[in-house]
Amino acid sequence: MAEYICLINQDAIIIKSPKKSPLLLRTIVLIFAMVCGVYICSICLKQINIQNNINFQTIQFIEGPHHDNGIKLLENPYRHFPNPKTFSRGECARNPVKFFTILSMQRSGSGWFESLLNSHINVSSNGEIFSRWYRRENISSIVQTLDKVYNLDWLSSASKNQCSAAVGFKWMLNQGLIEHHKEIVEYFNRRGVSAIFLFRRNLLRRMVSDLANSYDRYAKLLNGTHKAHVHSVEEAEKLSTYKPTINSTSLIADIEKMELTAANALAYFNSTRHMIVYYEDVMTNHTKLQDVLDFLGLPQMELKSRQVKIHKGSLADHIKNWDDVKRTLKGTAYEHFLYSDY
Ligand SMILES: *[C@@H]1O[C@H](CO)[C@@H](O)[C@H](O)[C@H]1NC(C)=O
Ligand SMILES: *[C@@H]1O[C@H](CO)[C@@H](O)[C@H](O)[C@H]1NC(C)=O
Ligand SMILES: *[C@@H]1O[C@H](CO)[C@@H](O)[C@H](O)[C@H]1NC(C)=O
Ligand SMILES: *[C@@H]1O[C@H](CO)[C@@H](O)[C@H](O)[C@H]1NC(C)=O
Ligand SMILES: *[C@@H]1O[C@H](CO)[C@@H](O)[C@H](O)[C@H]1NC(C)=O
Ligand SMILES: *[C@@H]1O[C@H](CO)[C@@H](O)[C@H](O)[C@H]1NC(C)=O
Repeated sequence: MAEYICLINQDAIIIKSPKKSPLLLRTIVLIFAMVCGVYICSICLKQINIQNNINFQTIQFIEGPHHDNGIKLLENPYRHFPNPKTFSRGECARNPVKFFTILSMQRSGSGWFESLLNSHINVSSNGEIFSRWYRRENISSIVQTLDKVYNLDWLSSASKNQCSAAVGFKWMLNQGLIEHHKEIVEYFNRRGVSAIFLFRRNLLRRMVSDLANSYDRYAKLLNGTHKAHVHSVEEAEKLSTYKPTINSTSLIADIEKMELTAANALAYFNSTRHMIVYYEDVMTNHTKLQDVLDFLGLPQMELKSRQVKIHKGSLADHIKNWDDVKRTLKGTAYEHFLYSDY
């Protein structure tokens, strides 16, 4: 009985199939195949996309983890062997080179910090190269400049050439860095550039320094020349005779703005290999510099700078409307700025 039905069914199939219009059937099959093909393709593409995203994120995570303490995870992407066009590295060609940049804000001690780094025999930190507008006019001029620096072809008084083991420069947050942060972060992660954030905690002192420096641009207190940094106590004393007046109406908002700028920069560059250094910490404890050398994979060495601090001692002696400023900050989170030494 079972066999019989089966046979009938088989017959039915064999007999039935020619009955259906072959053209219609073929068209249906064709359309079905096409739809399937498109569907499978789209799923494949989606999976490839997802996989790419995952890989990208994984690579970023592995290559550029959060480094506040200079912990070394993956060293290799950060060791480079540049081949400069302008000179031969000679026997130092076999020494790896680290790429770095000091990210900071004006009047935060970055000039002093950079001069300390440059006192190391193997460090070439080439100054504030993006202070020139045309070098940061667009992302291609930025990348061109970065390529030149990291190929060791940027020649400045700081370049040590053959035996540089770390090459970089200092870059202020308002010099195209925030504006082009996406492309720059991508560049840092692709080329293995380590970032050293240098911040100043006491933003009131930073403000005093900024106002005094702006004033001196025109006043030129040192025998008719403007100096942003000085190398003698006499010069420092002369420059600090000028007492700026601080706008107490906008003071709190101005401080908050500086804090926000720093926080944004940290958030944007979070995926890069980086460390955070505070000016005040280096000032009170020079051993902090050894952490920086570790972070850059450099041999330990004592670092020295000839720069002399301009605004020494109590802030009360450096602000014209001191009482006003004191009243404004009293009872706020920034009150301690009034009394700290650095
Ligand atoms: C980018 O800036 C450079 C240097 O100022 C300039 O020569 C170049 O034409 C600019 N490129 C674009 C795409 O705007
Ligand atoms: C540092 O520089 C010195 C002198 O130029 C050189 O002998 C030494 O190999 C360099 N060290 C590194 C780690 O490149
Ligand atoms: C400025 O001039 C005075 C007197 O001519 C001189 O003693 C001093 O060294 C000069 N200072 C600088 C910074 O050139
Ligand atoms: C101080 O700041 C306030 C608020 O931003 C502004 O209106 C005022 O013009 C400023 N005063 C001076 C002297 O710059
Ligand atoms: C940076 O990322 C880490 C881990 O993803 C996170 O814990 C940290 O809060 C982030 N920091 C900033 C400043 O966004
Ligand atoms: C100075 O800095 C070093 C390195 O970060 C740290 O180990 C040491 O405890 C610090 N010393 C003081 C007195 O804070």
